Amino acid sequence: MAHIPSEVCDMQMNGVSEGMDLLHIDVETDEVEEKPGRGDVLCSRNVLRKQRNWERQLAAKKSKRKEEKQRRKLNREQESGANADCPQFTKRVMKAITKERLAEAQTTGSKLCVDLSMTDCMSDKEISRLAGQLRRLYGSNKKAARPFHLFLTDLREDSRLYRECIRMNDGFLNYMMDITEESCLDLFPTETVIYLSPDAEEALETVDADKVYVLGGLVDESIQKKLSFSRAGELSVRTARLPIDEFMVKKNNAKNFHSKILAVNQVFDILLTFCDTGSWSDALQAWFPPGKGYVVAPDDSSPLPATQTLD
Ligand SMILES: C[S@@+](CC[C@H](N)C(=O)[O-])C[C@H]1O[C@@H](n2cnc3c(N)ncnc32)[C@H](O)[C@@H]1O
Repeated sequence: MAHIPSEVCDMQMNGVSEGMDLLHIDVETDEVEEKPGRGDVLCSRNVLRKQRNWERQLAAKKSKRKEEKQRRKLNREQESGANADCPQFTKRVMKAITKERLAEAQTTGSKLCVDLSMTDCMSDKEISRLAGQLRRLYGSNKKAARPFHLFLTDLREDSRLYRECIRMNDGFLNYMMDITEESCLDLFPTETVIYLSPDAEEALETVDADKVYVLGGLVDESIQKKLSFSRAGELSVRTARLPIDEFMVKKNNAKNFHSKILAVNQVFDILLTFCDTGSWSDALQAWFPPGKGYVVAPDDSSPLPATQTLD
């Protein structure tokens, strides 16, 4: 029979007795001094508590992801339902139609710039997330019935974001958009530019074909307050915010969390749907992320103050 050293035996006994303690099972032993001390039990309980918290957080994240997935699926189904009358095209034909639409947008479409002049203050993780958001933004434009003429401005070829876009986004250099190191004011007259910022006073009323809309290429992991608003101030251009206060109300939630700051691709989706439907309610309903603590105000109510809450 194999000989088990006495220290190993002691260690195993300690583990068992600790487990029993945690399970609140009293087991009588002769070796009272071998029982784990109060400090050990507290420590194990802390570990258990942390583990439980971590599991709870994981479950919450999972269910949030699931909700988001279902919402996107619903949107897709609604879209394809709306297109049910259209003839079914082959992939090749669809690709050709998309290309033609984007080419047309580059001459006649409403103009939208993503201002990428502020990426130096972002972490590598934020840069990666921004590259992903730009891919989604372009993907939405490709699918749109009336796409925007897109510009990525202030994007230097030697920048981290440029490298990350090439690394993460297949065919980035062939995207049908203007990628330039110039700024929006090098391209357009000051009076035509409207910089979208969550901190703007004025609410955006419409999307005007004569105007150029600018989104701040920022990812808010380490929230940098009013950065796009200050940038617009430096450029001396008009600012506008999405009309969230005018069309949405706060929704009660466990964390009492309410945010009007969206990712660039989310703002872009809202603008696209507004251009399509002419309705802010529809656009916000379709794309405003549910986790941000706002819901579209019921139809029959006049514009509500965003301080009013719904359960
Ligand atoms: C993640 S946000 C950046 C927020 C950042 N704190 C800032 O200073 O703008 C990225 C960009 O999306 C646009 N954006 C996000 N939420 C918006 C809102 N509620 N109204 C207008 N634009 C918004 C802005 O152009 C903003 O710069």
